Amino acid sequence: MKKIIKRVGNKELQYVKEVLATNFRTSAGCNMIGRFEEAFAKKFGAKFAVAHVNGTCTLHSALYAAGVKPGDEVIVPPLTMASTTMAVLQQDAIPIFADVIEDTFVINPASIEKLITPRTKAIITVALYGLAPDLDAIMKIARKHNLLVIEDNAQCFLGKYKNQLVGNIGDFASFSFQNSKHMSSGEGGVVLTDRREFAEKLRKFSVLGYAAVSAKKGKIAKNDIQNPNYDRHVSLGYNYRMPELCAAVALGQLEHLEELVQRRIDAANLFLKPMKGISWLKPQQTPAGCRNSYWSLAVRLVHPRIKWADFRKKFMEFGGDGIYAAWKLTYLEPMFQRLDFSGKEIVINKLYQGQLQEYKRGLCPVAEKVQPQILAFKTNYWDWRKALKQAEILKKTIKFYDQR
Ligand SMILES: Cc1ncc(COP(=O)(O)O)c(C=O)c1O
Repeated sequence: MKKIIKRVGNKELQYVKEVLATNFRTSAGCNMIGRFEEAFAKKFGAKFAVAHVNGTCTLHSALYAAGVKPGDEVIVPPLTMASTTMAVLQQDAIPIFADVIEDTFVINPASIEKLITPRTKAIITVALYGLAPDLDAIMKIARKHNLLVIEDNAQCFLGKYKNQLVGNIGDFASFSFQNSKHMSSGEGGVVLTDRREFAEKLRKFSVLGYAAVSAKKGKIAKNDIQNPNYDRHVSLGYNYRMPELCAAVALGQLEHLEELVQRRIDAANLFLKPMKGISWLKPQQTPAGCRNSYWSLAVRLVHPRIKWADFRKKFMEFGGDGIYAAWKLTYLEPMFQRLDFSGKEIVINKLYQGQLQEYKRGLCPVAEKVQPQILAFKTNYWDWRKALKQAEILKKTIKFYDQR
């Protein structure tokens, strides 16, 4: 029997206490953000980490640092949480939706390449449900067309692509520490990059354009501002800084990230067992050499008669914990259908001389087929007995339907 994991352990508490003991005095010397950034960068083999307050503003900062200007195009997948696309709009840029691959649900490099125009500046890839897309192919396309790649790894921690840790393959990698993620600080996020000039831009953009902050320095010291003539703000920035308390929790989480991730992988593998040989359940495929970190276990229900809602209802009737649906494709969300970008549509309309994609059914046929089929199972079972119980319930549900 696997042990019960404490999702939030003693280290988190210890580091939080260290922050509180400073009374939040700038001069008290607490630099939890710096400690966290150094540890996170080291873990993923990156040169720079810039902590943020969530995993949406990380993408916004990364787009800015990548040189994406208002009116530029950025290629994104539509099958993902909408933040991936919202960040593009926040930068007054144009999201261009590329289709996904049916078996893996992640962005299709062939679809990306077809969409590149002279206005394309960047690609945001998403490691959906914990599985990275074909990053080698995407990097090759990006280099050929002089584009930068931002990995959105909000759902992928310690995943592998061709036996390489996911998080330092693109030009930037963004992570989220929102509650549901592999590691969490309640809210939070970080961007990794290997290039100092990008890290400088990430920092300035995320810390109000302060002159005193830099690639490895997120904290403004008292001495920095003790001069009435001091020029504080060298560029427009946002206040996207991670709070010290969040950094304390994130540092603690990072120190036992392996067990947090492994538990999700173990739970996914446990739930995959009763699905083996069931032709109407098609789990997200993990290509050879890749490691899916299973933020959730996503499975396509392709039975001609069993309805998504009925399967979920039966599973819950038997005591199942509930099953999540995949997000609506971003371009089918009301904000796209109504073109309500909170006023940004005016800026975009003025700047963008090209033909916008038509945000209609048919834009990304594979994603449109896959999205309504996805059953996403929870994998965060810290108490293994609960996972075993859920696996039994799943087996019973499958048997119930397989006999008809
Ligand atoms: C793929 C993806 N990108 C971005 C985000 C945004 O992260 P946050 O909630 O920290 O802003 C999330 C999740 O919340 C996500 O799943």
